[in-house]
Amino acid sequence: MNKKFNIAIDGPAGAGKSTIARAVSARLGLIYVDTGAIYRSVGLYVCRKGVGSKDRDRIIAMLPEIEIRIVHDETGKQLMMLNGEDVSEAIRMPEISIYASDVSAIPEVRSFLLDLQRDFARKHGTVMDGRDIGTVVLPDAALKIFLTASAEIRAKRRYRELCEKGVDTTYEAVLEDMKYRDANDSGRSVAPLKAAEDAVMLDTSELTLEESIQAVFTLAEERMGE
Ligand code: DC
Repeated sequence: MNKKFNIAIDGPAGAGKSTIARAVSARLGLIYVDTGAIYRSVGLYVCRKGVGSKDRDRIIAMLPEIEIRIVHDETGKQLMMLNGEDVSEAIRMPEISIYASDVSAIPEVRSFLLDLQRDFARKHGTVMDGRDIGTVVLPDAALKIFLTASAEIRAKRRYRELCEKGVDTTYEAVLEDMKYRDANDSGRSVAPLKAAEDAVMLDTSELTLEESIQAVFTLAEERMGE
């Protein structure tokens, strides 16, 4: 296995990126990297400090206080370390989604996190998911996939996921959050959510999870054989 074989999977919230990327990485022996978790860690730090998610100047001034590390445990699960604390659970709270989306629109935040992502991919073969992996972080990735699904289907999937985790929320709130983040993530001026020109588009609205995983796996195998 080529250590530096990297697969970029981008797409909007709830398109199934993380579940698909995790399954494909396990089958291919690559490391799964969830880059949204990195933005969530910055969002959590800002939120805990009581600073508004749109307070650019204060957020930029805080960046030197933030040390983020991506660690994988023995089962391959990604843990996020924020100044030495494992925040993997805390960053999943719904209010942190909005914080993550807002802080991710700040160019200084994006450049602060760029090397962390690139260094990781340089050292390991990865399946990296996010919003700008194929366009900005890993423009030379061996395979780029842009996953989509309708907002309603994505909200339904995310709602189910949150319910299973015991998070108290409603479908309407999740759909609202999804639409807010879609507009925010696609509309920002720096590294907006968009497909790379050479990305393979995959709409998962009508596919089961297993079918989606198989589609990505097949594309990866084809690319590895080239
Ligand atoms: O993947 P996620 O929903 O956990 O990501 C949370 C937010 O982080 C998302 O709304 C936008 C931002 N993000 C980003 O701007 N670039 C990435 N590569 C990954 C996430």
